Amino acid sequence: MDFFQTTQPRTIHAEVWKGMMDDSIDKPLAGRPQPMVDRCVCHDISFADILTWSSQRERTTLDDIREHFGCGESCGTCVPYIRQVLGTRQCSIPLMLDTSD
Ligand code: FES
Repeated sequence: MDFFQTTQPRTIHAEVWKGMMDDSIDKPLAGRPQPMVDRCVCHDISFADILTWSSQRERTTLDDIREHFGCGESCGTCVPYIRQVLGTRQCSIPLMLDTSD
């Protein structure tokens, strides 16, 4: 089974990214810039680097990324973002307050 399919939704998510935001994480985002996520914080790997690496391969799975970069092996918060990166080919993803799939 795919490593990332066995990973449980992470409630640590908001805490990991809280440092990127002001103290109003629970308030509506209307009128404020959309916070974006562009990297695996634990391994300091940008999604742009992942996309560049992925573009040199015929096919890239989340397991490939975990094995090559280590992303997802620590807190796992980046996993839903990396799924979106691979699906959209965008290297900056809007902050997700709920990462349960
Ligand atoms: S952000 Fe923690 S493992 Fe990627």
